[in-house]
Amino acid sequence: MTRQLLKTTTGIAASDGDGVQLTRIIGSSEIDMVDPFLLLDKFESDKADDYIGGFPDHPHRGFETVTYLLSGKMRHKDNAGHEGVIEPGGVQWMTAGRGIIHSEMPEQENGLLRGFQLWVNLPASHKMTEPAYQEFSADAIPVEVLASGGQVKVISGKTDGGVTGPVKGVLTTPVYFDVDLPANTEFEQYLPDSYNGFVFVIEGNLHVGSDGDLLEEGKLGVLGDGCSVKVSTGEVPGRFLLIAGQSLNEPVARGGPFVMNSRQEVLQAFDDFHKGQF
Ligand code: CO
Repeated sequence: MTRQLLKTTTGIAASDGDGVQLTRIIGSSEIDMVDPFLLLDKFESDKADDYIGGFPDHPHRGFETVTYLLSGKMRHKDNAGHEGVIEPGGVQWMTAGRGIIHSEMPEQENGLLRGFQLWVNLPASHKMTEPAYQEFSADAIPVEVLASGGQVKVISGKTDGGVTGPVKGVLTTPVYFDVDLPANTEFEQYLPDSYNGFVFVIEGNLHVGSDGDLLEEGKLGVLGDGCSVKVSTGEVPGRFLLIAGQSLNEPVARGGPFVMNSRQEVLQAFDDFHKGQF
């Protein structure tokens, strides 16, 4: 069965870090979460004032943060000794686990900064795992060229054509694809029944699901149940993110940068952080 569009959103304007202007697409009053995905932010601006403050040192516990950059440069640094610069087309996948303190700062003083941050939940059994970090530049991310002339950048998961992304060891085994389709073409991908997922339209207007519901540029569409997703373009080309993962079906307790299973565990995270135990 092909998945249908359940719900769509353009997200809400938000500010995070040191005054970074962004669009919160998941993790807002419109869409709280798409289990196991807790948050999706899009940042896109060519005005330095909108991003120059960056995200100075701040902690996380209990989940993973994934930064995928389309334009610009960002430097990441954390207290576990990881440091790197993400360039366009690159991805940084950080498993905060039991606790990490990191910063993400623009490595540019002008020009376009454009990208996404996704938060992927960890199962209760692994919220206190050791922090880990994976980073891949654009040339380390495989691209599948489709018969239609389209292409799929495979960050995580496996395409129906057998191309596997470089990100490994993620317990919710997510699919994270950046797909480009020429006009008047169609893309279909298998997704296990137990996965929740969504499509976010970066460019163009897409038709999603067997009914071909319209999903316009800048919109996120949450996918319903089924074992595959179908996306097609009309008269203009389209580009979209397809993100899906194994749902955890566990209680979620949020406290700012900490996401645990209970209020008590969130309070413990604040306590541990203030005691300098991260
Ligand atoms: Co962070």
